[in-house]
Amino acid sequence: KRIVVLISGSGSNLQALIDSVHQQHAQIAAVVANKANAYGLTRAEHAGIPAQVVANTDYASREEYDAALIRALDAYQPDLVVLAGFMRILTPGFVAHYAGRMLNIHPSLLPKYTGLHTHQRAIDAGDTEHGTSVHFVTEELDGGPVVLQARVPIFEDDDAESVAARVQQQEHRIYPLVVKWFVDGRLKMAEDSAWLDGQTL
Ligand code: GRF
Repeated sequence: KRIVVLISGSGSNLQALIDSVHQQHAQIAAVVANKANAYGLTRAEHAGIPAQVVANTDYASREEYDAALIRALDAYQPDLVVLAGFMRILTPGFVAHYAGRMLNIHPSLLPKYTGLHTHQRAIDAGDTEHGTSVHFVTEELDGGPVVLQARVPIFEDDDAESVAARVQQQEHRIYPLVVKWFVDGRLKMAEDSAWLDGQTL
């Protein structure tokens, strides 16, 4: 299977996928970033993976950008598109094009805390628990069917940074696992749920 990973930044989740994909019937065909300075591009180059920038600042509208992104991605014929810290809201047309074959990881226990600043919001709410969710991407922001979550504690002396680090450790564990399920044909998206081995999750 051919995977294309979309990033905007550090790419630590990309790195976890790079490190795990050797053991899978899969290859990362390309890494695409919307920002030229995304460190994940360097990670891709070190791993010998084609890395490409499609800069959103080069396009006048969201629709034009997403159309350009589709052209770039489809050149690699992806079976799966993996969003790994890709900080862009996607148009319905883009989402529809990759329906059932696009995953995202969001740093909260969805449906809690969609959007940004999730760690600080969990701390401010007095939560003692937080986490991360891998989900299929649908038109609703951070709203598609959840596949797998991991939980972490929030301690009294935590700040957003310490919680984020704890969450990321879990992300690096669960994202490769979910990708493997998809690559192995075990994971599917249905209407409003995800299926693993024919069972609804
Ligand atoms: C991750 O925490 C992910 O949940 C969120 O953005 C972050 C990306 O981190 N969507 P990295 O670029 O993979 O290091």
